[in-house]
Amino acid sequence: MIIYKKVIDISLSLENCRKLNAQIGFVPTMGALHNGHISLLEMSKKQNQLTVCSIFVNPTQFNDKADFEKYPTTIEADIAALESVGCDVLFLPSVEEIYPDKNSLAHYNLGSLETVLEGKYRPGHFQGVCQVVDRLLSIIQPSAIYLGQKDYQQCMVLQKLIQLKNYNTQLIVCPTLRENSGLAMSSRNIRLSDSGKVAAIAIYNSLLFIKENIARLPLVDLKNQVETSLLQQGFSAVDYVEICDAASLETITDYTPTTSTVVLVAAFIEGVRLIDNMVIS
Ligand code: PAF
Repeated sequence: MIIYKKVIDISLSLENCRKLNAQIGFVPTMGALHNGHISLLEMSKKQNQLTVCSIFVNPTQFNDKADFEKYPTTIEADIAALESVGCDVLFLPSVEEIYPDKNSLAHYNLGSLETVLEGKYRPGHFQGVCQVVDRLLSIIQPSAIYLGQKDYQQCMVLQKLIQLKNYNTQLIVCPTLRENSGLAMSSRNIRLSDSGKVAAIAIYNSLLFIKENIARLPLVDLKNQVETSLLQQGFSAVDYVEICDAASLETITDYTPTTSTVVLVAAFIEGVRLIDNMVIS
């Protein structure tokens, strides 16, 4: 695996690959890699001649400074994991390489996607995600970008970015990888104690509970019941339990089995904010 830290170096190298008509698959990450990331890299390797991974903890997407400072970094283990999965190129830029002019950060018209769910609780977050991914897409110019369904709203936001900026890149959403317990894999899980990890399974069980009862109980009762139960099972706060139209992310008040629906949860345990979702088709 070749590691590039400078935009100029990776750009030149990838330009040569494109001249040879190589399809480039891209997996953007903030490091602290887990099997969920590895599954994205494996998918990219299957579908492309060249796979590029980026590791960059993007400061502009953290609305909470403490969250940014606490974000786990495990670079040596990450490089070993990338080598073992056969990743071809790692892009490991500095803040200056990504944001040469910090005073002129772009703004994107994301419509209602920016103000609901994660957007409501993490103001500015999706602008930051778009800023970094826009920059990375312009440097790497991949045929496909691979993202995990765990960040459901982020996938929708980045699909919108691709449209807005007319990128010739296909977005591939890969299924959420879970521990045997059902807990969705996340870099943030490193910060949970063993008992926290056990208690955190309540999020997945809540999603299953809603899925099983969605056609039977009023949605508002389901959401209230789940919120109360998360608080009783060790979560300190629940940002949201929402049931939405899977295509628009608008909250639905009545369930229609013919419409694709997504249940989304964000809640805190041991000071760690976890998100998860489940699509009910
Ligand atoms: O999902 C993430 O890890 C980040 O939001 C991303 C897409 C790498 C942008 O920083």
